Amino acid sequence: MSDKITEFISEEKIKNRISEIAVQLNEMFKGQTVTVICTLKGAFVFTADLIRQLDFDVRMEFVSATSYRGTESTGKLVMRYPLDNSVEGDNVILVEDILDTGRTLKYLYDYVKEKNPKNLKLVVLLDKPDRRVAEIQADIAGFTIPDKFVVGYGLDYEQKYRYLPYIGVIEPTEEK
Ligand code: IMP
Ligand code: MG
Repeated sequence: MSDKITEFISEEKIKNRISEIAVQLNEMFKGQTVTVICTLKGAFVFTADLIRQLDFDVRMEFVSATSYRGTESTGKLVMRYPLDNSVEGDNVILVEDILDTGRTLKYLYDYVKEKNPKNLKLVVLLDKPDRRVAEIQADIAGFTIPDKFVVGYGLDYEQKYRYLPYIGVIEPTEEK
């Protein structure tokens, strides 16, 4: 049986919000070079759409840390894919799909901060403040959402549904 997914944020709303975020970033980093770090896997769709609206010089990097099993956070983080280039002295934007307990972004923030960037901004597509445990907040958040498990536009449930062009709330079926 397939999981039930109800559209929550439309493709158009996402698109419009990304344009607003890009305007903000273009103002912030006008004429500068910026290293954009995409956190894999969830932020790949958001990052791809966002960077194509930036009009300053962008260098791309990717990192991956994970703590997730199904819909439950285990709390334990593992670095799967570290930065493979120096960001020392760089303007850095760290892009994440969703800020939930905040453990992942706090871990990645500390990891990048240790590399001595000139400055570090956190941009997340979604913010679920109700579940925050770690002390971290985004400089820019696309949408603040209630405590629901969402999929689509890069976000997954057991690696599925990342391809959906909208963000939906999922009710997983019991059977697999
Ligand atoms: P945190 O460490 O609890 O903030 O979790 C962040 C990570 O958990 C995100 O990068 C996502 O991969 C995953 N995550 C948290 N909430 C959701 C959700 O509603 N849908 C899909 N993935 C989620
Ligand atoms: Mg993720």
